[in-house]
Amino acid sequence: MDNIFKKYLEGKSVRNIDFKVFEPSFVPNKMPHRESEIGILVDNFGKILMGGMPKNVLIFGKSGTGKTAVMKYIGRELEDASKNRVNIRSIFVNCQIKDNSYSIFETMGNSIEGEKIPFTGWSFDRLYAAVKKNIDMYNGNIILVLDEIDRFVKKNGDDILYQVLLLDSELEKSRITLVGITNDLKFMDYLDSRVKSRLNEEKIVFPPYTSEQIYDILMDRVNIAGINDFVSEGALRLISSLASQENGDARKAIEMLKASIQLAISSGENKVEEAHVFSAKNRMEYDAIMETIKTLPVQTKALLLGILLLRESGTIQFTTGEVFEAYRNVANGANLPVLTPRRISDMLSDLDSLGLISANVTSLGRYGRTKMIEINVSFTDAKRVILEDENFRGLKATPTMKQLRFNIDH
Ligand SMILES: Nc1ncnc2c1ncn2[C@@H]1O[C@H](COP(=O)(O)OP(=O)(O)O)[C@@H](O)[C@H]1O
Ligand SMILES: [Mg+2]
Repeated sequence: MDNIFKKYLEGKSVRNIDFKVFEPSFVPNKMPHRESEIGILVDNFGKILMGGMPKNVLIFGKSGTGKTAVMKYIGRELEDASKNRVNIRSIFVNCQIKDNSYSIFETMGNSIEGEKIPFTGWSFDRLYAAVKKNIDMYNGNIILVLDEIDRFVKKNGDDILYQVLLLDSELEKSRITLVGITNDLKFMDYLDSRVKSRLNEEKIVFPPYTSEQIYDILMDRVNIAGINDFVSEGALRLISSLASQENGDARKAIEMLKASIQLAISSGENKVEEAHVFSAKNRMEYDAIMETIKTLPVQTKALLLGILLLRESGTIQFTTGEVFEAYRNVANGANLPVLTPRRISDMLSDLDSLGLISANVTSLGRYGRTKMIEINVSFTDAKRVILEDENFRGLKATPTMKQLRFNIDH
């Protein structure tokens, strides 16, 4: 007879789940529903293996459509295929992190053998010359992937692209192919025409994933982690449909899957069900709201805090006049300059468009037209997050605040 503990012996121990496969940086060996995009890239870069010249590439697509993962996958496969044939090095730069020309050149120069380049300090001419020398000594093909390139160009202009194209034209024994990745379709408007035509030799658009496609991606991930018996099909379907409603973002879907698995584990259950997905979704939305509040400018935080305190003192609906008064009390209490009602009105619109409050224009008869403000977030949590900002550390209750019974205990 079977041992009565059989099912526990056969089940996957949750402690053995490798959560690395759910990290955004994990690059799988197979990328379903990107076959045609990968095909175009393989044809382009495959030319190098035959001694030919690939085109520069621009990849467009919304967040979570697999742009970064596909390019990392291509780079890995290409380096692997080129062994003992040609020198190919794929250099990946996240332009949100390396946000100046110096650090992009330094990364390029130090990614290959040759003179070591310091993180900072050299003149651009010296840097350029050293990178050029290193790359030419390499005697091969560099694929320079500039991820999130739109952010860089919006901040610094397109000189970097020009400099890289110039460097490529001056090389004798090596070649640089540029790959730009962006989620901003209007990014090209920021480019000078000399750069635009060179960068735009091959353009690939990554469309958002459908619910079915996300399901396949999640199923693959679950299989890689070896936990298919731990995640119900209903849970996977639900995540896929939620993520497809949110712009077909595979990153969000994988994050939700990971959070659902963790929730199921922490509540001691042996299968991830729809209920875990709903809780994970709520948790993620809550975290996102708190992160939004945390990163608000200090004056906007002061305004929101004023609104929260008003609500806490018992007022349910309030006018912009009352809000301005509450804001002024907070700003004074925190030693911040008091902004004009006009600026406050703009900040109210910002809070409204972030979904933190709702401001409705109502006609109040003899009071004239006014805005009624409502709060859409948890008071205690929002207040706690704002009071964590050191600008409010010394916040004292002003006499008016005391009158209103505002409670600002930290
Ligand atoms: N077709 C796919 N197959 C498997 N995983 C994918 C696929 N597309 C995206 N992913 C995964 O989704 C997440 C987000 O992808 P990413 O490449 O970072 O998106 P983007 O760069 O377009 O914002 C990553 O974890 C990635 O591995
Ligand atoms: Mg990306």
